[in-house]
Amino acid sequence: METAAQAATAASATGPAVIVAIDGPSGTGKSSTSKAVATRLGMSFLDTGAQYRAMTWWMISNDIEVTDASAVAAVAGKPVIVSGTDPAAPGITVDGTDASGPIRTPEVTSRVSAVSAVPEVRSAITALQRSIAAAAPHGIVVEGRDIGTTVLPDADVKIFLTASAEARAARRSGELGATASADVAATKEALIKRDAADSTRKTSPLAKASDAAEIDTTDLTLDQVIDRIVALVEEKRAAK
Ligand code: DC
Repeated sequence: METAAQAATAASATGPAVIVAIDGPSGTGKSSTSKAVATRLGMSFLDTGAQYRAMTWWMISNDIEVTDASAVAAVAGKPVIVSGTDPAAPGITVDGTDASGPIRTPEVTSRVSAVSAVPEVRSAITALQRSIAAAAPHGIVVEGRDIGTTVLPDADVKIFLTASAEARAARRSGELGATASADVAATKEALIKRDAADSTRKTSPLAKASDAAEIDTTDLTLDQVIDRIVALVEEKRAAK
């Protein structure tokens, strides 16, 4: 649903609604960048990783063994996941319960790759993502791993963010409040393991779409990345 803030920003935004897909591995700045681009352009925002995390949290809460793909597949259609699309306060609920906090726990983070590799989970969540994108009144910025390749292959603008493993681990550690070098090293190891699982799974793996613009964020500030993407979206709007 559109908030008053989105409507006000959108009123001053120019051009037709566009769909922007932003993919890439963890720690490339996808979430911060996507929220800021959506805010600057008066668009909706969708964090698709949060949806896979919400599905994982529901599985854990309901005692489903997440490494048992057929057990996960059998109940993948059960949880009712509702994603907020206001970039200032996206939020997410599962069966009516606010899941914004629980989906960020290490327990969920360590299990989400297994759950998101199950085809029945992907088809349920992909359908949800497409319906949210189709309903966004002023366009939407959708961030994830397979948005440009599978979920919204006709997106108007496709971006693939990358960064060195060191930069990604340092950013993730910063978000988690870890400062000791052992913690940073452990974060880096977990991140590389999760990206490898996400990139090698059979169903819609993390991948760059052939027509996506790749931006290496290693040596760029957040504002520089945002400016580049906003410029690309404005160019597309002008050409539409
Ligand atoms: O962006 P994130 O770290 O919150 O994503 C959590 C997990 O969800 C990630 O390990 C892979 C999975 N994911 C996915 O498979 N497809 C997406 N479009 C988004 C996330």
